[in-house]
Amino acid sequence: MEIIVTVEAMRAASRGARAAGRRIALVPTMGYLHEGHASLMREGRHRADLLVASIFVNPTQFGAGEDLDAYPRDLDRDMAIATAAGVDLIFAPKASDMYPAGYQTWVDVDRLTGPLCGASRPGHFRGVTTVVTKLFNIVRPDVALFGRKDYQQLAVIRRMAADLDMGIEVVGMPIVREADGLAMSSRNAYLSPDERQSALCLSRALARARELYRTGERAVPVLLDAVRATIAAERTAVIDYAEFRDGDTLDDVTSAADGTLLALAVRIGKTRLIDNCLLGEEN
Ligand code: PAF
Repeated sequence: MEIIVTVEAMRAASRGARAAGRRIALVPTMGYLHEGHASLMREGRHRADLLVASIFVNPTQFGAGEDLDAYPRDLDRDMAIATAAGVDLIFAPKASDMYPAGYQTWVDVDRLTGPLCGASRPGHFRGVTTVVTKLFNIVRPDVALFGRKDYQQLAVIRRMAADLDMGIEVVGMPIVREADGLAMSSRNAYLSPDERQSALCLSRALARARELYRTGERAVPVLLDAVRATIAAERTAVIDYAEFRDGDTLDDVTSAADGTLLALAVRIGKTRLIDNCLLGEEN
């Protein structure tokens, strides 16, 4: 596996692969890889001849006071995980190359970025869509893979790729969970052992809503009460949002149906965790 750090070298590698008729897959990441990332990489391996993973902690998607400086980093460990998952090439650019002095161009997706993380992290999605567009332009993949844990991010990137005629297949992959149900996330590394236990309230709340839905409950206020009560049972958990939304448009819903999204963002101590499920579906 090769590591490329400059935009020019990445562009050249991509040009060479395309000239040789090779299909390119990209797994964009911010590093501190876990099994969730590895599952994206293994799928990318099946779908392309050249598998590229980017590792870039993108400063423009972090707000003031968020965890940019503290974000966990471990390139040696990331390389071992990426190698085992079949990655051919890691693209790990410097922030000063991605955003040189004078940088002033942004990509914005409109309505889909309004609610949920868009509301609680202003500017976050503008940073995500901008960096993903840049990565797409540099790597020029045929297919790009993202996890469904960041459900809204996946919806926004799909919309962006379609609206801007990027000609890139955007693939969403299932959430990967620890044995006890906690969704895998690089931010789980921040949790103390006690907080790690408290964090299970997210997957417990999803399970509670799914169970109520399975037994016939459709009223969102009732489902929401159960979700909130499950999370509130953990003393250290503070809800940022808990919302039922249309799984495609992310519009508000008052009655749940198959494919309705339940999205959660919950603070456990200083760590903000997200999780979600689609009602009526195995996920
Ligand atoms: O999901 C992430 O890790 C990031 O938001 C992404 C897509 C790599 C963009 O920085």
